[in-house]
Amino acid sequence: MTISVFPEKSKCLAKKYLFPAVYKLLEHKETGSGFTLLKAINSGIKNVDSSIGIYAGDSMSYNTFALIFDPAIREYHDFPEGKKHRSDISRIELANLDPEKRYIRSTRIRIARNLNNFDFPPHINLLFRRKLEKKVVSALKSLKGNFQGQYYSFKDYNSSKYSGSKKKLCFPKGDRFQDAAGINSDFPECRGVFKSFDKPLMVWVNEEDHLRVISLRLSADIAKVYNDVCMAVDKLSHHFDFAWHDTYGYLTSCPTNIGTSMRAGVHIQLKKLAQKRTILNDLVNSYNLQIRGTKGEKTRVENAVFDISNLQRLGISEYETIQNLHKGLESIIKTEKKL
Ligand code: ARG
Repeated sequence: MTISVFPEKSKCLAKKYLFPAVYKLLEHKETGSGFTLLKAINSGIKNVDSSIGIYAGDSMSYNTFALIFDPAIREYHDFPEGKKHRSDISRIELANLDPEKRYIRSTRIRIARNLNNFDFPPHINLLFRRKLEKKVVSALKSLKGNFQGQYYSFKDYNSSKYSGSKKKLCFPKGDRFQDAAGINSDFPECRGVFKSFDKPLMVWVNEEDHLRVISLRLSADIAKVYNDVCMAVDKLSHHFDFAWHDTYGYLTSCPTNIGTSMRAGVHIQLKKLAQKRTILNDLVNSYNLQIRGTKGEKTRVENAVFDISNLQRLGISEYETIQNLHKGLESIIKTEKKL
């Protein structure tokens, strides 16, 4: 039996593991910054179709509410007890899988980071969001060489100043899951995007995580995209104390992203495999990859353009993740060619 704060139809992991005894132990607990169990699970309560249904309000949440986070994380990530996450962002060399761009339209990799001494986006207040933005922007502006760039604040997001390519650069307000988690508070205040001049590199500030470092190229050069994003993250790590957990690696607002916090994927057009979804799904599963819709999470596949990315983030290093994605895509392209 689990606790009845969740809707009856909900199948999320937070509900599954919130036994009455656990609820009793956690209901009056708070992290140092006042984050509570009910705030953590609000998104799961409001959205029946949540898969995990819980968010962290700060780095302490993972310890304070471990009785609920631990089992949900272990099941979601298939992460055995006693294992520790390791990070490895060393440089990689990989062959370009599709130099003629017959299949792969683009490659995008993002890595999320949060700062230890600031509440995470579900819980941070306006004052601290502002302080954080200031701190981050000053670090970004100090980036030298290839990573030099400009910061675009969303201050005038709703005015006519923000149109065309500038508006396209913005990340949208979060979906209903993020909204109920508290991530949209005061949007678009203190949000912004940093874009480097010479490289296709961006940093989202104050979206679901404090920082989301993104590298995107209209090519299949996965190694280049990966090396760029890792180098940027490494440079930034000299400016900040990133939230890191001994068991769970890099900490993010949503426990689905902990570990590497990396999503590495391509937009790939597979006209033949689109007609043979069982073969495609088997391939994707065997390499631990996932398919998302053309326009991202919880969207449809359009025109046989699939978004294929890594499924694992915890218990696997960044380096291994990329090797695995590369192998999987190689085999998917081979199969598409044969059909
Ligand atoms: N909270 C939602 C759920 O439980 C989203 C999880 C993953 N997505 C994300 N943007 N963090 O299904």
